Amino acid sequence: TADLSPRVVVPGPGAGARPRTAVDTTIIVPTYNEAGNVAALVDRLAAAVGDRDVEVLFVDDSTDDTPAEIRRVAARAPLPVRLVHREGEERVGGLAGAVTAGIRASDSDFVLVMDGDLQHPPEMVPDLRETADDVDLAVASRYGGDGDSSGLAGTYRRWVSSGSTVLAQACFPRRVGRVCTDPMTGFFCFRRSAVDTGRLRPRGFKILLEILARHDLRVREVPFTFEDRLAGESKASWRNGVQFAYQMLGLRMGRMTRFAAVGALGTLVNLAVMAGLVAALPGLWYVLAAVVAAEVSILHNFVLQERFVFRDLRDGVNSRRRRLAQHLAFNNAEALLRLPFLVLLVETMHLWALLAQAVTLGVAFVVRFIFVSRVVYRA
Ligand code: GDD
Ligand code: MN
Repeated sequence: TADLSPRVVVPGPGAGARPRTAVDTTIIVPTYNEAGNVAALVDRLAAAVGDRDVEVLFVDDSTDDTPAEIRRVAARAPLPVRLVHREGEERVGGLAGAVTAGIRASDSDFVLVMDGDLQHPPEMVPDLRETADDVDLAVASRYGGDGDSSGLAGTYRRWVSSGSTVLAQACFPRRVGRVCTDPMTGFFCFRRSAVDTGRLRPRGFKILLEILARHDLRVREVPFTFEDRLAGESKASWRNGVQFAYQMLGLRMGRMTRFAAVGALGTLVNLAVMAGLVAALPGLWYVLAAVVAAEVSILHNFVLQERFVFRDLRDGVNSRRRRLAQHLAFNNAEALLRLPFLVLLVETMHLWALLAQAVTLGVAFVVRFIFVSRVVYRA
């Protein structure tokens, strides 16, 4: 494993020479080329927290003069400001790695994480920290209550954000789906003693998802408005999407894999039934045989799913009979819709038929998993 220890630690005025400070709250701010935002952020934070026992810890991976700007601001700040600067090889895990390094370079009772570009209003910090008093984790949510994600530039970003939110909630129905409307937020505060920080696998952009998925936490949300960036540009890219996919696999091979395995078995059952029917009843129209085979495999999948995939979630709002009805309705509708969707891909997008078929099957799998987790087995 990579070494996450800080290379340069600059103690702020109140921090003395202690490498670790035992303050009440460490505000961890990951920064990557944010020189234009540092001064405004520290000013607004200082005004917001007043005389509360907090320190600000920048974990900086910048390639520009951001570290110099942080040192300049730290020297005149009314609250302790520390800097962990990572260079080259040390910059493992990107944003999530930086946050993890900050968690390990601090020793406070509470850890609060926020972006350095003022999309997360510093004025909310006291509320977020006080909310964490009653629970283990306070999440500033763009989607809960009267939260607002208007600062998310572009329809594409919005779709990616809500798509990955729904997927994460479906993959972790209990630890994420039931407790958190915004597992992708980068603005939250947790009680250090409730989180096994050694188990966090820093990767990509989604550190909160790691924290949620690996623990049973008492969570409370505080709605907020995601503001526009003050200066500079977003560092999110398509690569974060790929990292997100890996992260999901690494976190919970369990349920999704079992679900996929049941689907694969169902396909084999389908083929076996069809072969058996065609052999036993030579005069049978093959389309009828295919329909019977499909229904048998749909029922087979339901039985295995109940038993092996969602056993722990069977006592939700739906009775067994209702779950079966939903399962049958959904799978039949999906089987019927897949054909026109396939034709659409081939005829209008000119996809190679086999590739189009693979796409429809892939999309169907994801949609089915989300439907089953969010509707059939919902709490
Ligand atoms: N140290 C470090 N290393 N910081 C980084 C890195 C990195 O590799 N990449 C980004 N950051 C810092 C930025 O400097 C900024 O302070 C913060 O992380 C958020 O990065 P942005 O580039 O502003 O991301 P965004 O606004 O597009 O994404 C925000 O919304 C996402 C959900 O839609 C962030 O809050 C994400 O955490 C959040 O998942
Ligand atoms: Mn941002």
